Amino acid sequence: TDYETILTETRGRVGWITLNRPEALNALNSQIMADVVDAATRYDADEGIGAIVVTGSERAFAAGADIKEMEAKSGLDMLMGDHFGGWARFAAVRTPVIAAVSGYALGGGCELAMMCDIILAADTAKFGQPEINLAVIPGMGGTQRLVRAVGYYKAAELVLTGRLMDATEAERSGLVSRVVPAADLLAEAEKTAQAIASKSLPSVFAAKAALDAALESSLGEGLRFERQTFAGLFDTEDQKEGMAAFREKRAPSFINR
Ligand code: HXC
Repeated sequence: TDYETILTETRGRVGWITLNRPEALNALNSQIMADVVDAATRYDADEGIGAIVVTGSERAFAAGADIKEMEAKSGLDMLMGDHFGGWARFAAVRTPVIAAVSGYALGGGCELAMMCDIILAADTAKFGQPEINLAVIPGMGGTQRLVRAVGYYKAAELVLTGRLMDATEAERSGLVSRVVPAADLLAEAEKTAQAIASKSLPSVFAAKAALDAALESSLGEGLRFERQTFAGLFDTEDQKEGMAAFREKRAPSFINR
């Protein structure tokens, strides 16, 4: 499929999405949302894909929602047009998504990274929610996911002042899974994605769903969900294969069943 604002490529069992609006530092307009959501949901429906990587350019993962597209809109336009609605479908993808962040991940860009399961950051990465400088607030999940990622006080400082943080601070705060030298970012993302994509897909979907439950439910509900989901995996052929391979001291061969 040809997209206007992203590049896509399948490498083995990994689906790549590269944000490609260099003239606007990958600002997230309606077209890029439609393209990313379409590509991600296609990968998600494809049993041949076991992990997805979303990345931008060296200079910017994404510098936010597209300010020029939003500027003239009314509150009613934003609401009735469901301006950011597509992103909920991106966040609902069952396949693990790795954000490989180099340069700016600001506003909607930071929020897009936080919809992913793993955030790998180049040492050049800069994260922030600068919406307050535009007299608005984060609108794609920033106030909610950032609090869960870094805690209330760090999130409140960032959202209220609009200050950016570098990769080191982001990692220390718990926003970033791992920081790597900029030159290694894509190779590290590839390695991480291939590692995930080599597992049995039902167990990977189950793990992501259970991790999501940790953010969305009480401890008791989350533990019940985990226990049921864990038990369900014992009815897969891959569970028998995985445990037999361990006993026989060989590599497992999974069939995603
Ligand atoms: C539209 C953007 C953009 C954005 C950059 N550009 N960010 N266009 N929306 N979010 C465009 C610029 O207008 C410019 O194009 C080109 O990209 C390069 O940007 P420069 O500003 O010239 O680059 P630089 O001087 O290096 O500064 C980089 C920057 C700055 C610090 C990242 O661009 C910046 O502050 N951008 C906005 C960051 C931001 O406020 N993000 C939050 C957006 S609101 P032209 O053609 O003009 O030269 C958001 C809200 C979510 O995400 C929900 C809200 C309801």
